[in-house]
Amino acid sequence: MSFFEETNPEMDRYLENHASSEPEILKKLRRETYQKTTQPHMISGYQQGRLLTIISQMMQPKNILEIGTFTGYATLCLTAGLAKDGKITTLDVNEDLAYLPKKYFGESEYADQIDFKLQDAKEFLRQTDEVFDLVFIDADKENYAEYFRLIKPRTKSGSVVLFDNVLWYGKVLEENPKQKSTQIIKELNDLIAKDNDFENLILPLRDGVNFLRRK
Ligand SMILES: C[S@@+](CC[C@H](N)C(=O)[O-])C[C@H]1O[C@@H](n2cnc3c(N)ncnc32)[C@H](O)[C@@H]1O
Repeated sequence: MSFFEETNPEMDRYLENHASSEPEILKKLRRETYQKTTQPHMISGYQQGRLLTIISQMMQPKNILEIGTFTGYATLCLTAGLAKDGKITTLDVNEDLAYLPKKYFGESEYADQIDFKLQDAKEFLRQTDEVFDLVFIDADKENYAEYFRLIKPRTKSGSVVLFDNVLWYGKVLEENPKQKSTQIIKELNDLIAKDNDFENLILPLRDGVNFLRRK
């Protein structure tokens, strides 16, 4: 749920009506996510999806990593700019829902470039020696700081890394949060702000996106 969806639905509609329209396959996927899953709100927002598509189109990345596939909405947004010989690896641990992203990836014109793995992201990151141009992290918040530590060596100059939900419904403003996920997201934002190898800003889009570029 975005700030505007909650506080000003009219403004939210205005933003949506003045952005590029959502491709048909994504409309269908959003509908089916709401019909078939118990936590449909986990799906990436419309504007966030457009942002991912534009970043991908600007970068034309060869190697994308996504942590947290869910039903595949952001994955399909990210494929839009893939280089001809590029690929996206997308990771999730939810076997019960895997049929949904698999169905939509199969329908996508980028089907051959999508590598969907049912694998824990920490396990994957500890094993891989790949370097990624573009990384999107939208998964278990308790591991966000660890994901940043593991992803850094897997980036190069110019790589872009995006962490979703870094405002955590405003809870990052709590001074001594009791909730573990809030503590970890605060730790992540502090780690990033102090890391001189990256430039970054937090976009207050939906629940906040920490947008990093490796120098
Ligand atoms: C918010 S949803 C992702 C939304 C998705 N990016 C989209 O665009 O709709 C978070 C997902 O992270 C997955 N997840 C949780 N822990 C994980 C882990 N350790 N490794 C990989 N995926 C994980 C969950 O199963 C869930 O599907």
